Amino acid sequence: QAADSLYIINNFAQKFFADKLFNSDEGQSVALSYLEERGFRDDIIKKFQLGYNPQEKNALVKEALGQQFNIDVLVKSGLVVNRYEEPVDNYRGRIIFPIHNNSGKIIGFGARVIGKADRAPKYINTPENEIYVKSKILYGSYFARHAIDKNDECLLVEGYTDVISLYQAGIENVVASGGTSLTIDQLKLIKKYTNNLTIIYDGDAAGVKAALRGLDMALEESLNVKLVLIPDKEDPDSYVNKVGADQFREFIKGNKKDFILFQLEVMLREAGNDVSKKNDVVNHVAETLSKINRAEDFTKQQEYIRQCSSILKIDELGLTNLVNKYKRDQL
Ligand code: UTP
Ligand code: MN
Ligand code: MN
Ligand code: MN
Ligand code: MN
Repeated sequence: QAADSLYIINNFAQKFFADKLFNSDEGQSVALSYLEERGFRDDIIKKFQLGYNPQEKNALVKEALGQQFNIDVLVKSGLVVNRYEEPVDNYRGRIIFPIHNNSGKIIGFGARVIGKADRAPKYINTPENEIYVKSKILYGSYFARHAIDKNDECLLVEGYTDVISLYQAGIENVVASGGTSLTIDQLKLIKKYTNNLTIIYDGDAAGVKAALRGLDMALEESLNVKLVLIPDKEDPDSYVNKVGADQFREFIKGNKKDFILFQLEVMLREAGNDVSKKNDVVNHVAETLSKINRAEDFTKQQEYIRQCSSILKIDELGLTNLVNKYKRDQL
């Protein structure tokens, strides 16, 4: 089985990388020290099974071939690439973040350069293969699933280090989308655990845009979506390290916005006093609300229509009719 051999090679590689991180001079002085400088505790580094791929061009290749691993599988796993027909380690000199499926098996890796990322790209990720399907991955879900269940809420952040830092701060119901905009498959995975999604993205324009793009899909999946924007120039990892766990929790609690009302605010602000722009906003809102179309969500939709028409200062029945029009258009 192709899939089985990929799991086996990933498992082997994770042990190799972790050993190098903790037990080699290079790993300790270059990688472990970097992680510690960033504030990651040893127990958390071990829990998330982080590692280090040495700078030497073929440290992993040599070890793996010595253990009779198949070179084609090594290449397919993304751990090894052929350079001028010579197999070399793909993640040389990088910190390794294993990515687990929900049963804890390693399906792939994110590999980060150490220090500033002027040597692009900052992260290299596993290429698509039988077990690593990017659109279906939520980084951290293996560690977060019990806490998501217990809190009946899933926090969604952008990156690996955001997940790990929040977990370390005692906020365990957190997963990452991996920087990409949300996919329908990721939302379906979240929906298996909870109906309540809180998106915690960077406060910059890109973060807001990325978040808004997921909204219609999330509504169609019948998720209740809240949004928290982290102050400018920060991300959840840097911010929790800056203000500490308690203040971070308070910030999340105090800054959760209803996603639909947030979107409305943003659009209204942009429209200003322009009547035709406001007309566009009304249409957009009606279209958004029309995505809340499951029978069991009827009351929720009504309540949003009430609140949105009041904010927009338009007739509630008029908005209801418009929403229904968009609903019919979807059929
Ligand atoms: P960020 O650039 O915000 O990185 O990308 P980060 O997570 O804050 O990482 P640190 O704190 O600098 O170490 C967010 C996520 O986007 C994906 C990764 O999943 C990353 O965690 N990404 C980013 C890539 O896959 N490749 C890249 O080159 C950059
Ligand atoms: Mn960003
Ligand atoms: Mn939209
Ligand atoms: Mn970030
Ligand atoms: Mn970061």
